Amino acid sequence: MNITMIGTGYVGLVTGTCFAEFGHHVTCVDKLTDKIKQLNAGQIPIYEPGLDALVAKNRQEERLRFTTDISGAVAGADAVFLAVGTPTSRRGDGYADLTYVYEASKELAGHLQGYTVIVDKSTVPVGTARQVSRIIREANPKADFDVASNPEFLREGAAITDFMRPDRVVIGVESDRAEQVLREIYKPLYLRDSPIVSTTVETAELIKYAANAFLAVKISFINEMANVCEAVGADVTALAKGIGMDGRIGSKFLHPGPGYGGSCFPKDTLALMRIVQEYGESVRIVEAAVEVNSAQKARMVKKIRDALGGSETGKTIAVLGLTFKPETDDMREAPAVSILPALLEKGATIRAHDPQGMEEAKNYLPEGIHYVADAYEACTGADAVVLMTEWNQYRALDLDRIASLLNEKIFVDLRNVYDPDTMKDKGFAYVGVGR
Ligand code: UGA
Repeated sequence: MNITMIGTGYVGLVTGTCFAEFGHHVTCVDKLTDKIKQLNAGQIPIYEPGLDALVAKNRQEERLRFTTDISGAVAGADAVFLAVGTPTSRRGDGYADLTYVYEASKELAGHLQGYTVIVDKSTVPVGTARQVSRIIREANPKADFDVASNPEFLREGAAITDFMRPDRVVIGVESDRAEQVLREIYKPLYLRDSPIVSTTVETAELIKYAANAFLAVKISFINEMANVCEAVGADVTALAKGIGMDGRIGSKFLHPGPGYGGSCFPKDTLALMRIVQEYGESVRIVEAAVEVNSAQKARMVKKIRDALGGSETGKTIAVLGLTFKPETDDMREAPAVSILPALLEKGATIRAHDPQGMEEAKNYLPEGIHYVADAYEACTGADAVVLMTEWNQYRALDLDRIASLLNEKIFVDLRNVYDPDTMKDKGFAYVGVGR
């Protein structure tokens, strides 16, 4: 199949590369000339484990190419995927900004040749596929096309595995012809027994929001339970195990922490709230999850302050991990972005380390943070250490060395990586979340 991917952001790049790995011929288009130059020089603009090797392999085998020329890329494609950004609108009202989706639709319309399926890959509100269809029809009344929805469920840091071994593939289609094209594209997965859920375009669009909202609710639920555990003297880790083993609940996404972040849950929960309001409905459970999440981030500031004896003023805090999760350099909505400025404002000194995110962090965090080469340098002379993101290299720290480097042996573990008893034995004043 000939596939065109419009947008070489996270989703476009991973999806395009994986389709090429399936054996399809993929052209990735982006307006950003520098980015395309970079990709053509073999440089990957994001950090995603395994992506660089896969891009290199498929470029070499001539199944993957990058261009700024939309006309050549769209003509002759069996399917054109829209994988452009849908950020939260600048109006600050929570709506997803669809400008890029609509601009790309208008632009590609004139270049369509033969039957083509236009596939919404970006996370878009219900009804967007119909709008895309209308825009293309108006721009090119003769075009022979269908619009489909094919939401992605890729986790940053694990995107390639998620793509190659998905729990399911969701396709929203309005014709058998479109369904056949999409089934053909995903055939290699079908052979591996990954189920395909075929439904209407509206349902597919909503499935994406419902999945992310449900996961956000699950995280906020366990974060609230962690707070309850702290109040009653229970242990949330055992609690999560105790409920998660019930197959109806499931053990995944029951890890308490400083609140969810990233480019998806915060944006998609807000967008879902706005979408349903337009229809006179509400998603009060999702609204509560959003509220609990921002309270959780604020609560972490108090947790750190309390661990320091009631005030962070004049104290030096070592921070391990800045990105919203491990195995990414993405800082969007990272808990660190809410927590660290609050500590800095009150006169704390921050010595931070992150394996991949320090450059990116500088765009999100105020000046005055000291970025250091490793966890041990961060801890040298600090009055407390805060484990913010559970990168693998922070999971087996030399605790005796950390203890000897710290001014005061205070360890605030916002991801519950360490065992409280072991930490106490090592002489740390140890604080976790919900235990
Ligand atoms: C999420 C979804 O998991 C993907 O299925 C979806 O495709 C993607 O959004 C998207 O819409 O594009 P992602 O944001 O990359 O993926 O990362 P997650 O692994 O879901 O983590 C999101 C946040 O939740 C992180 O801040 C993480 O630390 C937090 N989290 C996750 C918890 O606090 N506890 C958990 O148990 C799990």
